[in-house]
Amino acid sequence: MREKLEALRDEALEKVKQAEDKKALQEVRVAYLGKKGPITEVLRGMGKLSAEERPVIGQMANDVRDVIKEQVDSKESALEEAAIEAQLASESIDVTLPGRPVQAGSTHPLTAVVEEVEDAFIGLGFSVAEGPEIETDYYNFEALNLPKDHPARDMQDSFYFTEELLLRTHTSPVQARTMERYQGKGPVKVICPGKVFRRDDDDATHSHQFMQIEGLYVDENVRMSDLKGVLETFAKSFFGAEREIRLRPSFFPFTEPSVEVDVSCGMCGGHGCRICKHSGWIEVLGAGMVHPRVLEMSGFDSTKYSGFAFGMGVERLAMLKYDIDDIRHFYTNDVRFLAQFKRN
Ligand code: DAH
Repeated sequence: MREKLEALRDEALEKVKQAEDKKALQEVRVAYLGKKGPITEVLRGMGKLSAEERPVIGQMANDVRDVIKEQVDSKESALEEAAIEAQLASESIDVTLPGRPVQAGSTHPLTAVVEEVEDAFIGLGFSVAEGPEIETDYYNFEALNLPKDHPARDMQDSFYFTEELLLRTHTSPVQARTMERYQGKGPVKVICPGKVFRRDDDDATHSHQFMQIEGLYVDENVRMSDLKGVLETFAKSFFGAEREIRLRPSFFPFTEPSVEVDVSCGMCGGHGCRICKHSGWIEVLGAGMVHPRVLEMSGFDSTKYSGFAFGMGVERLAMLKYDIDDIRHFYTNDVRFLAQFKRN
């Protein structure tokens, strides 16, 4: 009996040792400690033993059962611990690994120019106004002193939807819309950036869609010298303090008198070079004193109020400032071009 119990114990402990998972361990537990297991059997057969042997074998059977149970239990917790360790190891993150680089975008050069121009004029007391890109014939032309059949309409080939609706050809209609909102009471002091559209064949300097920034200042006693002062301040802040401007007489139906404004060439300092076609000057915008009829049509008394207006092309400003040779770069979205305008 004694040997049989010892053999059982050794056999069970060996199987515990070999069990590689909880399932195998459970099989050992059932086989040796279960109700139909060999130890239970020994305990059941105790009745056949002599009175001296009975307590000894009984004690021994209990000890063997306890040892097996203890080993099964400790092996079970060891297996559980190992499983947790394995899971932790497989899920661990190496926080010292370098991260994957994130591709950050950059501000589009046209957006950057618009923001810079806005900042310059906000600093001079202007606010920003906007208008619709689909415009009526009235605001795009008539309210700007361009009645139907006026020959100056040919200066801007247009995309029409209907007789009365078109894609705006310039940002000047925002002048009329803004003045109407002020209901004849100045001062009006706004700049209006936005997209404009013209039926043009695209090439290095023309695009059927581009951007303009309009300016309008209406108040009592606004004079041409105010226009010149504001534009000079702007040109020096945008292009550089050493730059000069000059005004040349021109014609726009919505201003009288009208001027074209040049800035001194940044390449040659005004001495003449290839960039400025040897004139020393580069044209940057159109401007003038708001025509009395434009003031009147938008509800302002032209005997009391006067104003100046100007309009400039954003692409042109950007091309001059960043030395870009083709307007199409702004719209073809080549990241090699765009990435050069990363701001820090
Ligand atoms: N609207 C003109 C154009 O697109 C630009 C312009 C010229 C705007 C003179 C003005 C201005 O406000 O006074 O060609």
